Amino acid sequence: MSDMNILNGKNVVLGITGSIAAYKAADLVSRLKKLGANVNVIMTENSTRLINPITLQTLSSNYVATGMFDEVKSWEIEHISLASRADVFVIAPATANVIGKIANGIADDLLTTTVMATKAPVIIAPAMNVNMFENKITQENINKLKSFGYRFIEPATGVLACGVYGKGKLADVDDILNGIIETLTVVQTKDLSGMHLIVTAGPTQEPIDPVRYITNRSSGKMGYALAERAHMRGADVLLISGPTSLNAISGVETMNIKTCDEMLQRIIDNFEWADAVIMAAAVADYRPEFVADQKIKKDDEIINLRLVRNPDILEKLGQIKGNKILIGFAAETEDLDDNARKKIIKKNLDMIVANDVTKEGAGFEVDTNIISIIDREGKITRYPLMSKMQAADVILDRIQDIMK
Ligand code: PMT
Repeated sequence: MSDMNILNGKNVVLGITGSIAAYKAADLVSRLKKLGANVNVIMTENSTRLINPITLQTLSSNYVATGMFDEVKSWEIEHISLASRADVFVIAPATANVIGKIANGIADDLLTTTVMATKAPVIIAPAMNVNMFENKITQENINKLKSFGYRFIEPATGVLACGVYGKGKLADVDDILNGIIETLTVVQTKDLSGMHLIVTAGPTQEPIDPVRYITNRSSGKMGYALAERAHMRGADVLLISGPTSLNAISGVETMNIKTCDEMLQRIIDNFEWADAVIMAAAVADYRPEFVADQKIKKDDEIINLRLVRNPDILEKLGQIKGNKILIGFAAETEDLDDNARKKIIKKNLDMIVANDVTKEGAGFEVDTNIISIIDREGKITRYPLMSKMQAADVILDRIQDIMK
């Protein structure tokens, strides 16, 4: 699935309400269309005072529905037809008023009637004054809708249209798009059914003494995204994880380890079972030569810590690979492509996912990544900034291509 057609054939119903951010919906419609989606727009009466329906009609190439009793454009009852046609229902921007109505079962216009009639996942991107957003009533309405499975794209913090600084700005169009893509890909078919996949995630911790260790900044987010997406797409996943603060993924067997040696052992124990291994973990290359039995005292001004090489897990797997698929990551700060290519050959990999960890929005700790995938022939495909969930899907699609 390329980034260009990621929403091909998907029906997105977009509700626009009377927030000053309504104009941003034009960009959202245009971006959705570029990704291949069919977009049907429903506008509340208030929103038509802020942005002309003709703009959205032109961008979406579809009739824009505004009122319950508009001139009928087809034989179907509009709110029922749009509700059932939707693969995903998005309300952006969503005012406190419309959130309150939906949370309390009020359906008094085309948008609230249609959203109540839909069985599609609903994503709401609020935009309003900070006090309105923080108002207990709004928060209670949001929590109520969340508890029913409605998804929210958090508003951003900044100077609001009313001149006040605070939380309430409509989220970036990129964040709304990511939410839509994630939601749609969650409900797609189980295309990885039957695949046995080992994913590693997080850092390793190499002990110095009973209370100290060497580690790195990996949060585990990239590896957990891979495990979660693979599981959702039907694969049997074994996640071997270094220490992270992430929640376990329901349905994914997780083995927690601390050191590189423990990670290697767990992978070897399960290697025969696996069709593919993805090493997203940031494994320490070195560990202290000796681990002190007791906490090291601060008696000396300088102490020397001698480090020895850890086993290279991927290199070892490369030697016993057979017809299993091995995917490495390359976390580089310079010469990304060259270093990644060298790693493919040295470790006998099928492909490597390179991330330049010095780029903003890429690599350690963040929710997004900027990846390039390099195959065995050395061909590089570069991808734009995307969420780690989306990056996971791109990587899983490429594994599927190799398995064909
Ligand atoms: O966890 P996050 O905060 O979400 O961050 C994600 C990430 C930056 C950790 C991830 O995207 C990533 O790049 N993971 C690999 C980090 C790394 O160790 O890169 P490397 O270039 O040092 O190693 C290359 C490959 O060899 C990696 O697949 C690594 O898992 C593997 N390796 C490394 C050392 C070792 N002793 N054994 C290994 O198998």
